[in-house]
Amino acid sequence: MTFDKRQVVYQIYPKSYKDTTGNGVGDLRGIIEKLPYLQELGVDVIWLNPFYPSPQRDNGYDISDYTAVNPLFGTMADFEELTQAAKKHGIELMLDMVLNHCSTEHEWFQRALAGDKYYQDFFILRDQPTDWVSKFGGNAWAPFGDTGLYYLHLFDVTQADLNWRNPHVREEMFKVVNFWREKGVKGFRFDVINLIGKDEALEDCPISDGKPAYTDRPINHDYLKMLNQATFGQDQGGMTVGEMSFTTIPNCVQYSNPASQELDMVFNFHHLKVDYEDGQKWTVKAFDFEELKNLFHTWGEGMSAGNGWSALFWNNHDQPRALNRFVDVKNFRAEGATMLAAAIHLSRGTPYIYMGEEIGMIDPDFESMADYVDVESINAYQELLASGKSEKEAFAIIQTKSRDNSRTPMQWDGSEHAGFTTGTPWLKAGQSYPEINVEKEKSGKIFRFYQELIALRKNLPLIAEGDYQAAFQDSDKVYAFERQLDGQKLLVLNNFFSQEATIQLPADYQTGQVLITNYDGVELAEHLVLKPYQTLAIVL
Ligand code: GLC
Repeated sequence: MTFDKRQVVYQIYPKSYKDTTGNGVGDLRGIIEKLPYLQELGVDVIWLNPFYPSPQRDNGYDISDYTAVNPLFGTMADFEELTQAAKKHGIELMLDMVLNHCSTEHEWFQRALAGDKYYQDFFILRDQPTDWVSKFGGNAWAPFGDTGLYYLHLFDVTQADLNWRNPHVREEMFKVVNFWREKGVKGFRFDVINLIGKDEALEDCPISDGKPAYTDRPINHDYLKMLNQATFGQDQGGMTVGEMSFTTIPNCVQYSNPASQELDMVFNFHHLKVDYEDGQKWTVKAFDFEELKNLFHTWGEGMSAGNGWSALFWNNHDQPRALNRFVDVKNFRAEGATMLAAAIHLSRGTPYIYMGEEIGMIDPDFESMADYVDVESINAYQELLASGKSEKEAFAIIQTKSRDNSRTPMQWDGSEHAGFTTGTPWLKAGQSYPEINVEKEKSGKIFRFYQELIALRKNLPLIAEGDYQAAFQDSDKVYAFERQLDGQKLLVLNNFFSQEATIQLPADYQTGQVLITNYDGVELAEHLVLKPYQTLAIVL
């Protein structure tokens, strides 16, 4: 199976896209309604965050039934209609598979708790907890009923890790993927899939909250090969992507090199930690351009050399909006949004657009903790207070870092709640919606720029297939790279600052052709002055 490298993926957080029932929660019919919009944008695949039955403790990443539709989002008939309707608009679906853990309300966990040995072996139970820290705060182990045992939960206490060492668990997981394949789905995003392969002996690990003890273990690659063989491996077309937490280039090459027969591509998150103080998420720091540039270069070149493939992205449902992190959004929102877009859409890998990015959406200005819903944010706030931060300091951190920043309703127009719902939205809309919305942006710059970038990838094999090389590595303002394919070359320059930046353009590029830029009237010259947040791509 080979996926199509010309394709671009658009991520929809169903809960916040479009509500057609007035219950304040987005639904599958809302997505059907917006298919013409997505076709106009030009995207090929839509990744839907989980819409399965779930207590919603972690907004659907706590699944209690893997093969059904949560009534909150619609019915199986709606899903089937969505698949068909999407195809008519030239769009394939990509579903989110959360196979590392299930909700403690899942029948398997409930049966296990009731004493059923067969299902107890579905989970990771031990007499003694290790010192690992849950990614949502606190120890990663919780008492397993009154048995005196502990079960592992790398995430929330209601998300119990599944025991992939047990072949019955693997079989169940493969069945889940095949259930959706039989419904015509060919795209899959595998949630935290590099955590499924735990060691047999689980040991204390004081480094990085225990992550090295359960991340990217060699057996993880074996499980992915099995998953590939038992499910999507023989499909024609389609696309698979693994979310890799705390990962490395050699592992990602292995996960995504076609010869390994694991996955088509991988997400990594290193570039989105360049505004973390000492590697800690719950801090506030301006982004470090040097670090960002070097990460893009080492990953770009490393993946290119190893024939791996990256999913390229700035935003998703777990991240605050990139515009607030990397751009002077007050003065240069459109320039910054288009520059960030070009920096990944012209690079090597498959670009992902997170809903609202194509209209330059920004973080909401929430005024109190009561506006936040996300379990991780609420836990973090409590931990920040406990660590001695004042309420004001803790709140300022949540405001910049919360996952709810990107989960606010899609801003369709200037009407109440951004045109997302006629009811009360489950999460408040950002205050920017009267100015930033789809209706307004149709005559703006950002949406059109995304359309152009998507079309370029389709028309120029150099963009879809070319290799990646770092350029102007010493620049302290410009992130630049070259792409090459069959003697054709592309240079992409991205000014990451609100000041001008000068580049000494090599002779051959001075007579090249401007492929795309976000400013009018560009003249190529030896001393090329890039405007604030200018992106400029020159093809030879
Ligand atoms: C992934 C998801 C995130 C979720 C976590 C646990 O990181 O993207 O939203 O909370 O896995 O499933």
